[in-house]
Amino acid sequence: MKMDGKTVLVTGSTDGVGRYVATKLASAGAKVLIHGRDRARAKTLADEIRGQGHGEPIFYQADLSSLAGARQLAEAVLAEHKRLDVFISNAGIGSRTQGSERRTSADGHELRFAVNYLSGFLLAHLLLPLLRASAPSRIVNVASLGQHPLDFDDVMLTKGYSGTRAYAQSKLAQIMFTIDLARELEGSGVTVNALHPATYMNTTMVREGGITPISTVEQGGDAILHLAAGDDVAAKSGLFFNGTQPSQVNPQAYDETACKRLRALSLELTGLPA
Ligand SMILES: NC(=O)c1ccc[n+]([C@@H]2O[C@H](COP(=O)([O-])OP(=O)(O)OC[C@H]3O[C@@H](n4cnc5c(N)ncnc54)[C@H](OP(=O)(O)O)[C@@H]3O)[C@@H](O)[C@H]2O)c1
Repeated sequence: MKMDGKTVLVTGSTDGVGRYVATKLASAGAKVLIHGRDRARAKTLADEIRGQGHGEPIFYQADLSSLAGARQLAEAVLAEHKRLDVFISNAGIGSRTQGSERRTSADGHELRFAVNYLSGFLLAHLLLPLLRASAPSRIVNVASLGQHPLDFDDVMLTKGYSGTRAYAQSKLAQIMFTIDLARELEGSGVTVNALHPATYMNTTMVREGGITPISTVEQGGDAILHLAAGDDVAAKSGLFFNGTQPSQVNPQAYDETACKRLRALSLELTGLPA
């Protein structure tokens, strides 16, 4: 993997699989923009990358449980960088992060939908001008095999809440967004793909869910790196990968009307122009 001269933003790179991906991209020569909420964890990562002689990562602190946080992150990246070659939307919370009961974001949206999907939707749109100007460029949405169709009458899951359903709904929303955005970006030189990196990697999210890990961070991280930098996927867009293999997703994602409905809702919730 050769990433010299490339600038890559990896959200949620202070921990877990994002941390691994950021480290590998830096060692391949990329200018890595790392992101998370925790300054101390970011410093440890930056020290590690710098200590290995792999350049100077730039840390962006932003809480993606608020749309204002996502906006600030995008504004800072746009103000400070002339190009963005890869945007890896990886930050996320699990089905049991902060307990499995229903919580809401700073904007009053269901928390897993807000952090895992809506903030990435907003970030991608705000970063698109820079990604377009840097084409060929890539967006990688780190989703999951855990997918649940959206009930458009209750997207915020006010009735019969389950953390597992909330997580799976947010992950299918990421995939629907991927397919929908790929249609919009056709011919632009910007590709967008989603993936399930690996099942139950040994990360904070999995451990705090009380689940015994069955995959390594390296396995999932290498699948993310494949979409971020692989030559074989350079022209592929609008696809979902299970690890490194193209794979089918929940049928709702192939329903163009449902994707458009999700887009309209997301534009409204984020205050982006239609
Ligand atoms: N682990 C798995 O087996 C698995 C399987 C399929 C898909 N995935 C997906 O892979 C991605 C990474 O997961 P992981 O397992 O590596 O999780 P992790 O170890 O828990 O790391 C999550 C990352 O997201 C950041 N984050 C969480 N909430 C945030 C918020 N409100 N604002 C900003 N950043 C926030 C964390 O930052 P802080 O340092 O600030 O907490 C951390 O850097 C997620 O999208 C997840 O859904 C994971």
